[in-house]
Amino acid sequence: MRDPAGAWWPGSHQHAGHQGLSPPPPPEAKRDDELEEFDLPFFQRLALQLQVLVFSIVIRLTDLLLLLWRPRLLRPYLAIWWAEVRHTPYRARRSFEVIRALKTTGQRFRELIYGETPLMTALYVFKRAGVGPGSRLVDLGAGRGRVLIAARWLGAETRGVELIADHVTRVEAPLRAVGITLTVGDMLQTELGDATHVFTNWLALSPETKARLIERLRTCGPGTRIVTVTRPIEAEGFVRRSRHLMLFTWGIETVWVHEYQPASP
Ligand SMILES: C[S@@+](CC[C@H](N)C(=O)[O-])C[C@H]1O[C@@H](n2cnc3c(N)ncnc32)[C@H](O)[C@@H]1O
Repeated sequence: MRDPAGAWWPGSHQHAGHQGLSPPPPPEAKRDDELEEFDLPFFQRLALQLQVLVFSIVIRLTDLLLLLWRPRLLRPYLAIWWAEVRHTPYRARRSFEVIRALKTTGQRFRELIYGETPLMTALYVFKRAGVGPGSRLVDLGAGRGRVLIAARWLGAETRGVELIADHVTRVEAPLRAVGITLTVGDMLQTELGDATHVFTNWLALSPETKARLIERLRTCGPGTRIVTVTRPIEAEGFVRRSRHLMLFTWGIETVWVHEYQPASP
């Protein structure tokens, strides 16, 4: 499901129906592209699109109003927005670069589906997770870095890792100007030993990639707070501290805060 800007809508799981006599092909026979297409009745789709539009306007206005308290951070926020206007991140292209990146990580195209966490949502959750001066927050799969602005607001050192170079190159300079680092890289290989907080909006990841990411999260130090969007970490050693129902452009979503508590050797 896509919003008017082309973003994905979690929770909309209705696929196009197969009306003919022949049975539908098994799921594994579908291409990634087909799996991204959903079909809803016209009025239902219209209602969803309107909902997304209203949420987007409310979120943008709230983010902008909040940033009046931190005018220094308004610039990178507007730079990310402007980059979106000029070149939408919501329509992934199978460019040579993207295919090469996927070969390196062993992921599928659909795992690159883009979606952003609103600034106000990130600010609230990070505050609840204890982010503040002295914290070091890493966003795994950072997109164009909007979340990092919230962590910076709270005084944390912030770093984002994003697989798609095109996302990074469009915004890295204005982010760097306010002390935010956004780099091209594979989050499954990222060094996490010094992080106090890790954030990942991992909704689009396959179960296999999630399992690999959880193994990577095991390289965090004990006590590291890990924030995930939509689904919690279901693995030993990750203790759920809190859950929050938060606003995203596509609706209300659950955000989970965990603490990494590995069993002592
Ligand atoms: C849903 S977006 C989240 C963006 C941002 N964290 C936010 O919440 O606003 C997920 C991002 O993860 C990136 N991604 C997927 N696999 C990755 C990998 N192995 N390494 C780094 N980034 C990855 C995608 O390209 C996409 O930009």
